[in-house]
Amino acid sequence: MFADLEGKAVVITGASTGLGQAMAVRFGKEKAKVVINYYKNEQEALDTKKMVEEAGGEAIIFQADVTKEEEVISLVQSSIKEFGRLDIMINNAGMENAVPSHELSLADWNKVMDTNLTGAFLGCREALKHFVENDIQGNIINMSSVHEMIPWPTFVHYAASKGGMKLMTETLALEYAPKKIRVNAIGPGAMNTPINAEKFSDPKQRADVESMIPMGYIGKPEEVAAAAVWLASSESSYVTGHTLFVDGGMTQYPAFMAGRG
Ligand code: BGC
Repeated sequence: MFADLEGKAVVITGASTGLGQAMAVRFGKEKAKVVINYYKNEQEALDTKKMVEEAGGEAIIFQADVTKEEEVISLVQSSIKEFGRLDIMINNAGMENAVPSHELSLADWNKVMDTNLTGAFLGCREALKHFVENDIQGNIINMSSVHEMIPWPTFVHYAASKGGMKLMTETLALEYAPKKIRVNAIGPGAMNTPINAEKFSDPKQRADVESMIPMGYIGKPEEVAAAAVWLASSESSYVTGHTLFVDGGMTQYPAFMAGRG
């Protein structure tokens, strides 16, 4: 438990499912106030709200498409209107789809970039504006991926969006460090979330991915949520511009395990 998170307000994009939902619930356990952003599925958002409240937090749901500037502005404002504050912004909404790069349409490229990178930028910008104007030592966490450093064939748009997110995180960290506003990222590996449900329901594909994870198992969303509350808390007060990989060792060149090479 991180005592200083009690009563703080956090906006989490894409929080009605997957990693976003796990983070919302964990912030609930920390007795924080959570804005659960969702894109389409109101019922999932309401279910998440109930889970946050049962965990001990407060929550509201807020529909917004992170690719739309006006909607991100309203989303960030909803925390200030409803809870009277915003302390932590988590840019988590993201998407991916596999397409051979020579066949990738501009529309598909733009959709992934707009959601994963531009959407995260808009969330950062709106939160920073609030922090700077009100002299708040706020905290931003961007949901990146192991693919901010590992190339990923047929996911060029996704990998490019996460690579962009890495330098966006580092640049903003540097720019706002004098104001004690911290900007970090989390780089999950293969996690048990809806985005991967289809892939991991096939035992062969699951075993194939597990073979690339030195710790030998697909991660649990709660393991990412634990990293998020630490990064959001004052326990990580001297950490900024960092990507915390939560990946069971996936980024440590598993091909070289057991002395190969
Ligand atoms: C992707 C997952 C993938 C994992 C490891 C994540 O960023 O969302 O689909 O399994 O990286 O490759």
